[in-house]
Amino acid sequence: MIARDGANISLWQNTAEPFIPTRNLSADQTYDVVIAGGGITGVSTALLLQQAGLRCVLIEAHTLCFGTTGGTTAHLNTLLDTPYTTIAKNFDEEKAALVARAARESINTVQANIARYQIDCNFEEATGFLFSQNEKQTQELEEIRKATMEAGVFVSYTDGIPLPIQFEKALEIKNQAKFHPVRYVMALAKAYEEAGGTIVQNCRVMDTDNTDPLVVKTEAGDVRASWLIYTTHIPPGVNLLHLRCAPYRSYAMAVRLTDDKYPAGLTYDMYDPYHYYRTQVIDGEQYLIIGGEDHKTAHADNTMMPFTKLESHIRSNFNNVKEIAYRWSSQYFEPADGLPYIGHLPGQPGKILVATGFGGNGITYSTVAARTLTDIVLNKENPNIQLFNPNRLKPIAGFTNFVKENVDVAKQLITGFFTKEKIHALADIAPGEGKVVHVEGHIIALYKDEAGELHSLNPRCTHLKCTVSWSLAEKCWECPCHGARYDFNGKVLTGPADMDLQKIKL
Ligand code: FES
Repeated sequence: MIARDGANISLWQNTAEPFIPTRNLSADQTYDVVIAGGGITGVSTALLLQQAGLRCVLIEAHTLCFGTTGGTTAHLNTLLDTPYTTIAKNFDEEKAALVARAARESINTVQANIARYQIDCNFEEATGFLFSQNEKQTQELEEIRKATMEAGVFVSYTDGIPLPIQFEKALEIKNQAKFHPVRYVMALAKAYEEAGGTIVQNCRVMDTDNTDPLVVKTEAGDVRASWLIYTTHIPPGVNLLHLRCAPYRSYAMAVRLTDDKYPAGLTYDMYDPYHYYRTQVIDGEQYLIIGGEDHKTAHADNTMMPFTKLESHIRSNFNNVKEIAYRWSSQYFEPADGLPYIGHLPGQPGKILVATGFGGNGITYSTVAARTLTDIVLNKENPNIQLFNPNRLKPIAGFTNFVKENVDVAKQLITGFFTKEKIHALADIAPGEGKVVHVEGHIIALYKDEAGELHSLNPRCTHLKCTVSWSLAEKCWECPCHGARYDFNGKVLTGPADMDLQKIKL
């Protein structure tokens, strides 16, 4: 089974074989490009650059697909989370059309890769459905229909959706797709290595200077490269993008039904947060994947509650549930203006690139990012370079609120460390739980393992010192400010932190 950054096992982890890299870092440790991050974006980018004749090394802090690629629900769509109405409003119609085209090209590229490398990843084209359940949603649905058509994506009303759920109106959109994301990425990693690329796992990229060539500091020593690309979901360090992206958790379940009535298509309701539904076949076995109940990372009092709500939603809508085979959650970063940030890392205009802020469309945007980043390195024209430029400064309605909401950073920095829960006795913690507790005048992040042993840490996130909180759902410490996550022992699971939480002796 592949490893992932959470305690729950996702459907993909258990049904994919890891690719084990065979090549080591070169003796002189000099490359054209260092790619930091071995999820779908990093591996897709590394493959394109290696095929273009550059000498690449992909460096992953854990193992391939450890991050969100191992916990996604893998929708390939042109009907995006940020509706074309919003994109057209925040940017313009022409840019909305460019986004639609980029999403279409992404699906086509994934399909072409699957054919080229003969990847067995259960890829299927499917129709997408978006349905309304009240008057307000129905009005919004009509606006989305118009804006989607104006963006060049054909969409039409339909009389039926493939779910046993009442609805007012529904749109259908053809030629969306779904697949097994981890099998796909492992096969691309193999193709990348066969093309001459190097993959180094369990090695963190720590830092770089801005010289030419760059000296990239890693846990395996310094590596020199002309370019450094962060495909780590959010870049490490302290950057403008940490204010422009907000971390969210989404919850998913893979369900077995008592009969064969697995719904076709990729289907979405219109609540906020919305639910999403799709069926995936893996080795002849069908699973109905249902997700939703999203919340900002570390902003839920009880992270088991989203699972409870999701299961209740499933059981109240489907009377043929046999079992919940898998349940898991994963993280995504919501961009301030609705579009990802792909290109030069703000404040580092040289040869350091980044891709982040994919919202709920990480799988679709990963391939868009791979092409865009590759074209920047190769100095090729591509309208997406301007479109997704991370240095764009376009004030939009709601941006101030977004930043305010995202800056519990400031609040946390000033008061968070001293005002949290008043937990008076260690005995309040049940085995398997963690809490930030006050003990003899100190504040400590305390986890009691199943055997009753206590693990104590300094609760200050090593990124910018916000106070972490415990996720009961994924058994890890989470930072509310920019989404860093740590295991019960304080080891970094998810950036932007690149240092473990400090251990405290009780
Ligand atoms: Fe930035 Fe924790 S992730 S302070």
